[in-house]
Amino acid sequence: MSDLPLRPELVGRSPYGAPQIDVPIRLNTNENPYPPPPEMIADIAARIAPDLNRYPDRDAVGLRAALAEYLVDQTGVRLSVDQVWAANGSNEILQQILQAFGGPGRTALGFQPGYTMHELISRGTGTAFLGVPRDLHLDADHVVAAVREHRPDVLFLCSPNNPTGESLPPDVINAAYQALAETDSGIMVVDEAYAEFAGVDSAVGLLEGRPRLLVTRTMSKAFAFAGARVGYLAADPAVVEALLLVRLPYHLSSLTQAAAQVAVEHSPRLKEQIRHLCRTRDEFVAAVSAKGWQCAPSDANFVLVGPFIDPARAWQRLLDQGILVRDVGLPRWLRVTIGTDEQMAALVDALGGLKDLRERT
Ligand SMILES: Cc1ncc(COP(=O)(O)O)c(C=O)c1O
Repeated sequence: MSDLPLRPELVGRSPYGAPQIDVPIRLNTNENPYPPPPEMIADIAARIAPDLNRYPDRDAVGLRAALAEYLVDQTGVRLSVDQVWAANGSNEILQQILQAFGGPGRTALGFQPGYTMHELISRGTGTAFLGVPRDLHLDADHVVAAVREHRPDVLFLCSPNNPTGESLPPDVINAAYQALAETDSGIMVVDEAYAEFAGVDSAVGLLEGRPRLLVTRTMSKAFAFAGARVGYLAADPAVVEALLLVRLPYHLSSLTQAAAQVAVEHSPRLKEQIRHLCRTRDEFVAAVSAKGWQCAPSDANFVLVGPFIDPARAWQRLLDQGILVRDVGLPRWLRVTIGTDEQMAALVDALGGLKDLRERT
């Protein structure tokens, strides 16, 4: 690419690149390990509309109505269709948000370690990105101080936070919103990709009276639907109208809209699965802690495990045994997605062989 006239802010940057390696146990991209049931796949096949010669509903109204119902079930909050928006993964929602509210001359702020795409999509849309360091635990004072100091145009909070795992209680989100409101310049995005796994209330419950609060969610994680690429947003209707200015026409195919609507109809089955994954997580944490490892507190379907002297070498040794986890670039930790009970038992065994790479604490 060296002689291409690339935009200067992209020169030398690396693309998003979680390794996609075909190994028996893949615990690196935080999907639900259980595939959708055959009856749901059959329903999807039956529902695909025959009129593929026509463009899809540009505004995906049927799907947005279904997602609004799902949110009532999830959060107890009833939103109207014009408060919900859908796109190809929450990454596309984040991109539309930054296209509409970021851009040249504007700044997005996120706390790091955090979700890497907040920074990558910011840069991709010409938005400056400021990464403010955070600990495993993020408290309201730290967030408020950063907002007052930097007055961002777009503030990212992630709850539960990827990769650290802890979720933010509503009072932290509210304090951040109040601090941003004082600056009268920005919008606040709460990325709730893992909300279904968390024990705290969703920020959807804070939308009323907070027109600059945007909550992004996804069907890629708890929903077990990552391959379909569907994410969504809950916000004030004016925010959704703003996103219509930047979305591509017909961005969400009829195939995706139909399949996602069926998946939402089948969502009651997920509750037991989500409970099971949380139990598997807690059992995994207990098992490895009993063997001398540490885990960061997690409200999500992943957990940081450590402390490793050399996470990159530990990652490779696990891969050599057919287990793919995520080296997120943190000095002592590897991130592990919660898989099936059998997969987690295999990981517990494999960690037993990595004691030489464990840091003495
Ligand atoms: C915090 C967070 N937000 C958003 C996403 C994007 O998910 P998707 O584009 O599949 O909806 C991810 C995926 O890993 C994530 O971890």
